[in-house]
Amino acid sequence: MSPDLDRKETTMDHSPVIRKLRFVDIPKAVRMIVAAMENDPTIHYFRDTSDAKADYWQKKWKYNMAIILANAIRKDEAWTVGDVYACLVFEPADQTEDILDKLVYGMLRIFNRTVAPQLYSRQQKRRGAEWKVKSEEAIRVTLGGRKRSMWYLAELATHPDHQGHGFGSALVRSFTERVDKHGGLSWLMSSNIENTAFYNSLGFITKAEIPLGDSDPDWHGPPVVNSLMIRDVSEKETLV
Ligand SMILES: CC(C)(COP(=O)(O)OP(=O)(O)OC[C@H]1O[C@@H](n2cnc3c(N)ncnc32)[C@H](O)[C@@H]1OP(=O)(O)O)[C@@H](O)C(=O)NCCC(=O)NCCS
Repeated sequence: MSPDLDRKETTMDHSPVIRKLRFVDIPKAVRMIVAAMENDPTIHYFRDTSDAKADYWQKKWKYNMAIILANAIRKDEAWTVGDVYACLVFEPADQTEDILDKLVYGMLRIFNRTVAPQLYSRQQKRRGAEWKVKSEEAIRVTLGGRKRSMWYLAELATHPDHQGHGFGSALVRSFTERVDKHGGLSWLMSSNIENTAFYNSLGFITKAEIPLGDSDPDWHGPPVVNSLMIRDVSEKETLV
């Protein structure tokens, strides 16, 4: 199924019609992702600290997301279903940053280093730093030099009102079809261990787990586990 601008939600065989996300969809897409991620354990860990200042974290997250979506849209790397019921953002393999990428990511980096630390609470900063160290290490060890040549499934969400209708899996299948056409590997970072079965059913296998909170004095729950998952069709035979 290739993404097009058809507004119908399903095809004759009732599979969802996937279309490109458009700039005009951005506000709705941000609201949809925020709603979908409301109960995400990783978002909860980063955002809902006991010393959180107002809703700065949430605001910054939304702005970041809008910028990332806009950059993905201009490169045709963001897809949706129907009236933005679900959304997927990806990065193809072997990408070289163009001038706009450099500008966008440069601006985000500067903002993250200068403004964000003023807005975040002590615990939020510590948890952000924990994520940076642990995720970079897991990516280095697990993907290493392969990362550049792999496709990245950067974002996936379905609005809570529309979950369970096959939109999420249809979006992922469109992505993996695109990857397979080019003959490559793909990876993602799952922020919710409960999604493992969903991603397994689409061919992604957990290769590394990143526990958050295991040494955080202000976190009293079990570690929040993120999973680095890889889809490698050559491993398919050994999965079944
Ligand atoms: C994960 C998510 C994107 C799935 O999207 P969706 O549109 O509901 O998925 P689908 O309807 O295509 O589901 C396909 C199948 O996976 C199952 N499934 C969906 N989410 C699941 C989950 N969290 N755990 C186990 N199975 C799940 C569905 O029951 C369905 O199974 P079936 O075909 O046997 O009925 C959606 O639940 C979501 O947005 N969750 C919140 C945000 C999130 O976790 N995003 C991913 C961050 S890594």
